[in-house]
Amino acid sequence: MHSSRPLHLARGGTSVVVDTSTAGLPSILYWGPALGECPAAELAALASASVPQRVSGSIDSPARLTLIPQESYGWQGTPGFTGQRGSGFLTPAFQVTDLTAGQNELTITANDDDAGLALKIQLTLTEAGLLRQRLAVTNTGTEEYEVRSLLAFFPLPDSAQEVLDHTGRHLRERSPQRHNLTTGSYHRESRRGRPGADATLLVAAGERAFGFERGRVHAVHTAWSGNHQYIVEQTPSGDRFLACGELLLPQEMSLAPGATYAAPDAFGSWGDGLNELASRFHTEFRSRPEHPDRPRPVTLNTWEAVYFDHNLPTLKALADRAAQAGIERYVLDDGWFSGRRDDTAGLGDWFVDETIWPDGLAPLIDHVRSLGMEFGLWFEPEMVNPDSQLARNHPEWIIQTPGRLPVAARQQQVLNLAIPEAYDYILTCIDDVLRTNDIAYIKWDHNRDLLEAADATSGAAVVHSNVEAVYRLMAELKERHPRLEIESCASGGARVDMGILRHTDRIWTSDCIDPIERLVNQKYTGLLVPPELMGMHVGGPRSHSTGRTHSLSFRSATAIFGHFGVEWDISNLTAEELGRLGSWIDLHKRWRDVLHAGTTVHADLPDPSMDLRGVVASDKRSALYGYSLTGSSASYPPGRITFPGLDPMTTYSITPAAFDYEDQGQSGLAWVEAARNGAPLAMSGRLLGALGVQAPVLFPEQSVLIEVRAQTPERHHTS
Ligand code: DGJ
Repeated sequence: MHSSRPLHLARGGTSVVVDTSTAGLPSILYWGPALGECPAAELAALASASVPQRVSGSIDSPARLTLIPQESYGWQGTPGFTGQRGSGFLTPAFQVTDLTAGQNELTITANDDDAGLALKIQLTLTEAGLLRQRLAVTNTGTEEYEVRSLLAFFPLPDSAQEVLDHTGRHLRERSPQRHNLTTGSYHRESRRGRPGADATLLVAAGERAFGFERGRVHAVHTAWSGNHQYIVEQTPSGDRFLACGELLLPQEMSLAPGATYAAPDAFGSWGDGLNELASRFHTEFRSRPEHPDRPRPVTLNTWEAVYFDHNLPTLKALADRAAQAGIERYVLDDGWFSGRRDDTAGLGDWFVDETIWPDGLAPLIDHVRSLGMEFGLWFEPEMVNPDSQLARNHPEWIIQTPGRLPVAARQQQVLNLAIPEAYDYILTCIDDVLRTNDIAYIKWDHNRDLLEAADATSGAAVVHSNVEAVYRLMAELKERHPRLEIESCASGGARVDMGILRHTDRIWTSDCIDPIERLVNQKYTGLLVPPELMGMHVGGPRSHSTGRTHSLSFRSATAIFGHFGVEWDISNLTAEELGRLGSWIDLHKRWRDVLHAGTTVHADLPDPSMDLRGVVASDKRSALYGYSLTGSSASYPPGRITFPGLDPMTTYSITPAAFDYEDQGQSGLAWVEAARNGAPLAMSGRLLGALGVQAPVLFPEQSVLIEVRAQTPERHHTS
């Protein structure tokens, strides 16, 4: 039997206090900054202090926000678990049967024998200080049981007053939106069979007007690439919480006797400001064994350069220019396989199109490899065009309500990879292409939402099984091809989550590479995903998706922080233009060790047209910042920019790194002139963070990069 004293888990700067005496299941009393040593008596006092008073007009023993809050113990908010067996036993009453606690992990099992259910809850504080919840329910009865929902609950402190999440669309993913946290429930759901372009990567709630640098804030994320739900709720009795999990379709999770449903991992982070909250997620990503461990190759993607216009001489010429500019990976996008002359046909027929590629892909791949670059190839394995051999041969492999195809999107339908034969066919096709060609990288696309996602024969819902199938497929391909890297693309950023990123090495952050749009998109995608996993490309001068025109320096300075690349027809650039692009690539290569391992920061500047972001090296000896003006500033000159994340006690020199903005005729700026004269200003991290420097006057839609380097010798601690 378990003890009922409160437990204190601590790791990675985070503490969690769990009260094991609450009715039904334990309850998290505290989740936030490390509490340090906590004597047992103090924890016990905290538990007593948290017991609510019985009030008139309510139930006799006030309900508690437990790990899985249950109606059977009086909870009247969103329930932690719902399901049903036949027409009976709608609300189980779980009771703890075992509890095992370590320093940073707590495992609880709970049963309801009458309902025929067993629950397993694992709370883990990871090294990064994230709170991970792993939930599973097993059918211990003798008949089928349908699970409808199993959600992870994370309590919020009373200081949480304001909610931040994201919305979006194709070409504009991760638009932030905020509202006040009031009594009631705010649900964000994905019913798209993939997270979706509008998906929120997390739901955050914090102190009023919390920003990147300040304000206590908590957030949760579900590591799952299918339908999901996020909830922020405040009950009339004042409980506040975040909850998240998979959104299951009717009958999608019917458990046979003895079967288990394991919910996707749910992660919670907190921070004093979003910079700290995001850095815990980044640390978590970087601690995974599968995290890419070699420098991210600068990439050229052919899509916006040639689209479907594949011809060998053009593509070889593009490769020549790419190599001259210093590019390290060349990715041939859509259009290489059978019948794929545009986006109306061919998906599913993963054989090199002999009419376009009479000698196969080898002539291009050999050329690319001879130039010292890796070769990558585009696939969209989960999709099928009705106009394809695959659809003609196997209409029964297409996801649909029996007898009726879902409404088409991009002229395509979705394959049911939960059908073993369909899975084997796709695995074999991709494996053959990889075995017969020197390919190091797949850009794995997924260009439509799922609708009426059912098995064509039985009519059963298949979103969950297809997410599992795609994870399995990626894992199997990587096992067969150990050097293989995969990019997760879904019309840009419509499938971004910690589930897909267990199997992939970067995401395509958005199909829109207009730097103005990307500044917002990358800032908010970066709340979850570290920059080295975000594809950021320099497009052509005129954005293909917005029509705006931007200088090379603005396009490059906004892309340089991520997994850098080029998506632009560079075959006609003059030698001078190619040289300028090459200088940006060189600058990225000089900084990429810092950019891809350091701490990402954003400054909370009062003027919304001013954007300052950067990455500080882990040892805080150097940092690269980008300052951009997105529109005209109300102030003229625009005021100060500050530099978050530096060591307050270290003195740094501050130097413009890329400063080819148009000279606007104003007199020189003192700190810029000092750097140009070889004597950059030296200031402490404390002053740079609190007061900063005068921002240079820029035209709207311009950026400058600023290098900050420690001057004082490194401090060595002796003990
Ligand atoms: C959508 C992707 O997001 C683009 O980058 C490109 O790969 C196209 N699909 C190709 O069809």
